[in-house]
Amino acid sequence: MADSRTLTLNRPLDMHLHLRDDDMLRMVAPHSAAQFAGAVIMPNLVPPVTSGEMLTAYRTRILKVCNGVGEFEPLMTLFFQHYTESQLSAAQPHLFAIKLYPHGVTTNSESGIHSINAAEPTMRLMEEMGIPLLVHGETTGFVMDREREFLTIYERLATRFPRLRIVMEHITTAAAVQLLDRFENLHATVTPHHLVITLDDVAGGLLQPHLFCKPIAKRPEDRDALLAAALAAHPKLMMGSDSAPHPRHAKESCGCAAGVWSAPVLLPRLAELFEKHGALERLQAFVSDNAVRIHGLNIPQRSVKLVREPWTVPAVYAGGELPAVVPWEAGRELPWRVSAA
Ligand code: DOR
Ligand code: ZN
Repeated sequence: MADSRTLTLNRPLDMHLHLRDDDMLRMVAPHSAAQFAGAVIMPNLVPPVTSGEMLTAYRTRILKVCNGVGEFEPLMTLFFQHYTESQLSAAQPHLFAIKLYPHGVTTNSESGIHSINAAEPTMRLMEEMGIPLLVHGETTGFVMDREREFLTIYERLATRFPRLRIVMEHITTAAAVQLLDRFENLHATVTPHHLVITLDDVAGGLLQPHLFCKPIAKRPEDRDALLAAALAAHPKLMMGSDSAPHPRHAKESCGCAAGVWSAPVLLPRLAELFEKHGALERLQAFVSDNAVRIHGLNIPQRSVKLVREPWTVPAVYAGGELPAVVPWEAGRELPWRVSAA
């Protein structure tokens, strides 16, 4: 619902979110709870979340740091490894999905899988038990080609497991958008920053470490295809921010960590983008309705209101003993803000 000064979103959802743990969790999670009714929580902690007990304990820690900010449902994921049926049944009360990382493709993926074929028995169980498979779909090939090379793996999985709900996470290419329409059981998330930036913004001038992430931003025609699909609220596409905080010193260093911390600006930045393209009425589907329909989610009703009141994104968020983290769009003025009311 929108007039020219306010915009109300019903149960907005972030379908791909890194919250980390301990001090970083305390630092970043309230930003997501302030804007979203729920989020899919990535399991690439050190060590990764690989059991029902770890998942439940992590969920409790998340709820604790979000207490009082707003009703927020963490949709928990396990890190893909070989699981037995009894392990999955034990985790199922709080399990939303399982996230598959190929070995070594991104932050904390050292215990990711080496062989997709060897992963099939667990996928078969997931298909039978109705557990979605979320995939970081990159090979270890040339950096600009990694996602494109992985698309054949998606095709194979979608064909071999027709009842398995597969989500291609954080897609960055026009080719991935096209694949969505070829397989009924394939879905995707896309990040707001990949709707806006290309590799030129990361490395075309002075290197911008705060825009460095995996998958790396691609070509203008890729960005344009992602943006067109998002603005049309393509029914198989969901907003997943991949907001991935790293301490400032780990980003502004030789050997920059991958990840864009977008959590503080997500809904305001999306409102600006959709409004600019005359698509504000489709933002609700992109940030919530598509995900609710695709996954049959039962999220408590909570609406989040945005107001047209310009604010300047802080250069850095730092709170006493908590880590200093630089947000996406640091220093930029955004026309919409999240209303506290
Ligand atoms: O840029 C990224 N950062 N991509 C990922 O896949 C992981 C994430 C992180 O955990 O930092
Ligand atoms: Zn991620």
